[in-house]
Formats: sequence, structure tokens, C-alpha cells
Amino acid sequence: MSSILIKNGTIADTVTETPADVLIEDGRIARVGSLGDVSADKIIDAAGMYVLPGLVDMHCHLREPGFEHKETIETGALSAVKGGFTSVACMPNTNPVIDVPALARYIIMRGEEAGYARVYPIACITKGMKGEELTEMAALKDAGAVAFSDDGRPVSDSGVMRNALEYAKTFNLLIIDHAEDKSVSGDGVANEGANATIAGLRGISRAAEEIMIARDIVLAETLGAKVHIAHVSTAGGVELIREAKQRGVRVTCETCPHYFSATDEEILSYNTNAKINPPLREQSDCEAIIDGIRDGTIDVIATDHAPHTREEKNREFDLAPFGTVGFETALSLAYTYLAETGVIGMPGIVKLMSHNPSRLLGLPVVSIKPGAMADVTVFDPECEWTVRADELSSKSKNCLYDGWRLKGKVIHTIVGGELKC
Ligand code: DOR
Ligand code: ZN
Repeated sequence: MSSILIKNGTIADTVTETPADVLIEDGRIARVGSLGDVSADKIIDAAGMYVLPGLVDMHCHLREPGFEHKETIETGALSAVKGGFTSVACMPNTNPVIDVPALARYIIMRGEEAGYARVYPIACITKGMKGEELTEMAALKDAGAVAFSDDGRPVSDSGVMRNALEYAKTFNLLIIDHAEDKSVSGDGVANEGANATIAGLRGISRAAEEIMIARDIVLAETLGAKVHIAHVSTAGGVELIREAKQRGVRVTCETCPHYFSATDEEILSYNTNAKINPPLREQSDCEAIIDGIRDGTIDVIATDHAPHTREEKNREFDLAPFGTVGFETALSLAYTYLAETGVIGMPGIVKLMSHNPSRLLGLPVVSIKPGAMADVTVFDPECEWTVRADELSSKSKNCLYDGWRLKGKVIHTIVGGELKC
């Protein structure tokens, strides 16, 4: 395996920023410090750039098996490394859904064949993702599942969720809940509020999300179990989680870049790439999400990378599927909306996009220290660029951020000592 020397960069961990060179040999970080003229097969000049522990995305959709017209594990994992992600955990709402060990193993095998980001399967909470009967979670864990979720759908039956949390507690598994009360959200397509009214679109109340977050908190508290809330989008949701954490409830959560960088004004042009579930909310929600990031209520920034084809998105707003692609813009959005604005620094971003998701999924925590596996992201904070959906590596181009100008760009991604881009 060839060696790589990254010169003149600034290493960020979860606390500090330190100027240093990094030598990578045999898939591992060999040396860190002022290394002068050591020889290496490849030399990267990272002057003015950050050298980061590889990013970890704990919530994405790679669409394989079953929806390869939207994305494959290969195209998705390539898009991931383009965005600086060295590990991604993919949701099981495929066809078939990932509810038996053979399918979890299939995802892992396809990820290894692709050879870009490391790919870890999240398996279903319930068989067939029907919300009725639990999967054999312990066997799925043995097959390599790193967490359990029926994402895309809520577990509507509280008794089923109770049993899932209790079972998960026994085996120390992570349950990730897509918090949505379908009896409240119904057939809504956008945030319930002035903009949906102006656009004449059916609303999705914040209550749909907050009722389920509250339920999950009550269940976790009652059982002493842990629960992770996916894609938090509302001010009320952040507050419920903040209060629960203060009481000692074992609840963690994630948000996505679109919930701190965009509002439901995007739907006024009927741009179907702004149709996302949960929906883009209002400015006050964005601010509450940012407060939650600042004070540690929000543990993780995940992408919810959700590819859909042009044909599927080129339908009227009501009929288009929910989701935006997200790998290749996530770090730039975090840098532009959180670091440039002084909410958190690069160490905070490392915590939310690498350290915390690794910990929650039980993966080895990535760090730039001698001996550690060499999963590294090189990021230029000075590079300003315009997002061009057509230029993304993802097979689908349904990008909310098409045409947006962002600050900071991923320049290189190294996985296990190999330069992937
Ligand atoms: O916007 C979304 N897209 N939200 C989800 O919960 C599911 C996802 C998908 O699978 O497309
Ligand atoms: Zn979801």
C-alpha cells in the first residue's frame, strides 16, 4: 500500500486545532508532527486547509437493493467520499427491506466491492418494516447491522416501540426513530404554516414530529432504555430533547444540514427538491436547531441523503417523493452556516459529524493519532464554490442546493490509507 504525506495542514479533533504534517503508511497514521522532508509515494500540500478525522454519516439512503435507478451502493459510496465521508450507515427502506441477516451481509459485501466509503447497514426494527413484529435484532447485529430503524416510516404502535426499546436495551443496540405521527401528518407535503397556505399545499404540523419525540422519550425514560431521534426539524422537538437530557433520559438525536440552512420559503417556487420529510420549517425552527447544536442538545449532523430520479421529482409537488441528496454539500453547509457564523468551530463540527456518530453506532472512533486507522478528510475552508447538481457524483441530482454558493470544500478523502478522491 502506498504512503501519503499530508503537509502543512491544520489537524482538528473534537477540542483543538493543531498545525502538523501527517504521514500515512500501511493504512494507518504513522507519524504526526513537523515532519520536514520525509519521503512518501504521494505528497498532498494542505497549506491553509483542515486535516480532519474522516466524516461519519449515520443516516443515508443508498437505495440498493431494489431502487438502483435512484442510487447504487457504488454511486452512493462514491458520492459519500466526495463529501468527505469515510463511513456511512444506510437505512433499510430498500426492496426488499433489510430485515434478515443475509440482507445485512449483502449490503456489507456490496460496500466492500465498491471500495469507496465504508458502508454499514442499519436494519429494520420490524419485519417487512410493517410496524408489527420485531426483527431478530441480535442476529442482525451479529451479521453487521450497526443500528435499527424503520426510517421513512414511524413505528406507530407504541407497544411495538416499547418492546423494541426493551429488547435493544438487553442487547445494547441503538434504535433510531423516524418520529412522525401519521394520524397527524396525514397526506401533508410541506410544513404547516403561512408558506404552505400561500402555495396551496397540504401542511404537516410540527405536532406530528413532537408527539412521537415525546412518546419515545417517555418510553425510554420508563424503561431506562436509550433511543435516538432521527432528523429533528422543529424548535419544540429540540426543547423536548433538551429537557429530557437534563432529567437524565438516555435520548440522543441528529439533525440535517437542510434544517439549519433552509426554510419552507423554498416551496413557494414548487421546487420538489425542497420536498423533504420532515419538511423544511421556518426561520424560528432553524434558529432553535442552531441553538441545539450550540448547547449540545443535538448530538449529530447526518445527511439523510435521499436520492430520487429526475422523472420522480419532475412531478407536481403533491406527487413527488420526499428527499434531497446530501453527501457532497453537508460539510460545506456545516462550515458556512455554523463555523463561519461562529456557532461552533471546526472541533465542534468534528464532534457532530465524526466522533459522535461513530460512538453512537459503536464504530471505532476516528482520530488523527499515530496508530489510528487512516480515515482522513482534507477540507479547504477558503474555497468558495457554487453547487451544480449536474456535477454531483450521486446517480440522482435531486439537490436542494443547486446553484447555492457555499464556503469550504472537501479536497481529498482517504479511507484506510487509500486516497479515494
Ligand atoms: O425526505 C425523506 N426521504 N425522508 C424520509 O424519511 C425518507 C427519505 C427517503 O427514503 O427518500
Ligand atoms: Zn426519516
